Amino acid sequence: MSRKFQNRRTFAIISHPDAGKTTITEKLLLFGNLIQVAGTVKGKKSDRHATSDWMQMEKERGISVTSSVMQFPYKDAMVNLLDTPGHEDFSEDTYRTLTAVDSALMVIDGAKGVEDRTIKLMDVCRLRDTPIISFVNKMDRDIRDPIELLDEIESVLKIAGAPINWPIGMGHDFKGVYNLYTDTIHVFKPGQGHTIPEDIQVAGIDSEEATELLGYYVDDIREEIELVRGATHQFDLELFLAGQLTPVFFGTALSNFGVREMLDHFVQWAPAPQPRLAVDREVTPGEEQFSGFVFKIQANMDPKHRDRIAFMRVCSGRYQQGMKMHHVRIGKDIRIADAVGFKAGDRVAVEEAVAGDIIGLHNHGTIQIGDTFTGGEDLKFTGIPHFAPELFRRIRLKDPLKTKQLQKGLQQLSEEGSTQVFFPLNNNDIVVGAVGQLQFDVVAYRLKDEYGVEAVYEPVNVYTARWIESDDNKKIEELKRKVPDGVAVDGGGHLTYLASTRVNLALTEERYQELQFRATREL
Ligand code: G4P
Repeated sequence: MSRKFQNRRTFAIISHPDAGKTTITEKLLLFGNLIQVAGTVKGKKSDRHATSDWMQMEKERGISVTSSVMQFPYKDAMVNLLDTPGHEDFSEDTYRTLTAVDSALMVIDGAKGVEDRTIKLMDVCRLRDTPIISFVNKMDRDIRDPIELLDEIESVLKIAGAPINWPIGMGHDFKGVYNLYTDTIHVFKPGQGHTIPEDIQVAGIDSEEATELLGYYVDDIREEIELVRGATHQFDLELFLAGQLTPVFFGTALSNFGVREMLDHFVQWAPAPQPRLAVDREVTPGEEQFSGFVFKIQANMDPKHRDRIAFMRVCSGRYQQGMKMHHVRIGKDIRIADAVGFKAGDRVAVEEAVAGDIIGLHNHGTIQIGDTFTGGEDLKFTGIPHFAPELFRRIRLKDPLKTKQLQKGLQQLSEEGSTQVFFPLNNNDIVVGAVGQLQFDVVAYRLKDEYGVEAVYEPVNVYTARWIESDDNKKIEELKRKVPDGVAVDGGGHLTYLASTRVNLALTEERYQELQFRATREL
């Protein structure tokens, strides 16, 4: 059994937009030697290399629509960082990406504290008790009282916070951080944000050097640290791994300060690839047999080929170039000669991948989100969610002769999770559902750009969608007969109820108690 996977650290960053996710990602890539100078990776407002017209659109809008994967070595670890879209209209993508990680880094804006999206993402992490490391960012600004921030993490996010280092001053007076465990001050020196900074250390808060460094404030700071030691949680590895306690680091991503300390501990503490649940059994990463699941499909990463890449998390065994995989849903063995790996957004051919790694498979339409691949066994990994959309539009063609292209386009876009599509049973409408408004814009843009279809949206009287589940076929037939306007099939062929109002949904649920109306569906 290969133990190579044990140095893998596969994680994603969760944060509210503007907290500093992009900035900290870039600094991590500096430490991983994937870039030499920060400021070269895509910046929201900086000029950025667009790999397709569609991404041109995201550039114009200043949002990141797509997730990508970055792999880099750090110390003895091989780190896999899964990027997630920052805009909440694409949150489904983020939720699914979080099913493919073993830990998460939570970035909090020190001036703003715990914000909405962080709360939501934390809820998703909690579903699997994902261990979380926290980074309180922007210490170079006037932030909120760090004790208050810790309290907020505990009360709002319901997780114990254990500070590992403590900030000394803030804003213009930011002097550095004090490591509560090693009794070392890491001294802040501004202006080193673009490269790997020097790590200036002063040993001992009671030392003469510390007195010199902290000058006038030294007594206050010593007192504060005493207080912090008494009033906060101690770090506990077991509680961290159980998702019940988060180690908290303070720093400034922009100045690349505190990031290294966080990363050093991250590779040490964050879990190696964890076992995954499949329908019939648990799959452990050290198993000989290969297995993995697809959590994301991204279209047209290369505009010349108009191809789609399925992102697969390897859960056990080893991928080797040219190997045969069993595509469980369609029951076929396929030879994979050209899986790709990801380095700072660039694709590279992978020869080998182990549990925890992410590989990209070229998808010619046969792979869907949630698909499991194995070395032969009929396994089905669970827990990849699909959420009922919150917004609905009827989509209409400008040119009625293009119905086929429209259907094909919507089918593919729904398979890759860019939108959801519903076909009501009693008419020829096509209803498109999204979690956020921007998803509609992206779909219209891509239909035109990739499928040559010009479509317009019209309002439609749908409040929400629910997947119908039941063994009671009679009741299902009754529903179809009595409420013909409300029943549809989605892009994957699943029976769905389209409710016109909240009241309508409640009434239907009451009348058809034999049926389950689900707001989420596991893929
Ligand atoms: P996001 O991906 O989480 O949305 O955040 P991003 O890294 O883009 O950071 C949001 C803004 O916060 C950026 O400024 C960024 O420069 C700034 N920022 C990130 N980390 C720090 C920090 O440690 N200290 C300070 N003072 N600012 C920080 P912007 O003006 O919106 O963008 P830009 O023009 O700098 O690109």
